[in-house]
Amino acid sequence: MTGPTWLFGYGSLIWKQDFPFLDARRAHIKGWKRRFWQGSHDHRGTAEAPGRVVTLIETPGEPCYGRAFLIDPDVFEHLDNREVNGYERHPVEIHFDDGQATGIVYVGPVGNFAWLGDAPADEIAAQILRSAGRSGKNLDYVLGLAKALRELDVHDDHVFDLEQRVTKSRSAPLA
Ligand code: SIN
Repeated sequence: MTGPTWLFGYGSLIWKQDFPFLDARRAHIKGWKRRFWQGSHDHRGTAEAPGRVVTLIETPGEPCYGRAFLIDPDVFEHLDNREVNGYERHPVEIHFDDGQATGIVYVGPVGNFAWLGDAPADEIAAQILRSAGRSGKNLDYVLGLAKALRELDVHDDHVFDLEQRVTKSRSAPLA
């Protein structure tokens, strides 16, 4: 990479920018869905009690909406450190309202060392409610992501369903 590069964000990168960027736009990629199937041993949990964060699952025909950032290549050093818990850089075609560009997305591939996979929605919610890591509560990750998606005018059933479950269970705790 020699010049500014587009990075597609679909999780915490959408709402937590601790990196410089030259431009940011609503965007989507094709053939992926967002799921809380990646374990977090660092930011939102610990190795002994992992939290849950999002990764992308290959799903032909499915669009995943998020936010793309134009960044200088040297910013990847910081991002690789931030996304160190099982994520890998993956080349991807990013679609904007008015065109497209080849860029990078961080994906936690199926079976990576922090991978958790699917579970019943209430179990995922309960795990999120009891987890915390060095960046804070796992709950705040869910609420922050849901809020940021709404601000981008993006609807995501999986994220919004989980948001509802964790919010409800504050008054009536899950098992
Ligand atoms: C991303 O936001 O694009 C990657 C996953 C995360 O850091 O939550």
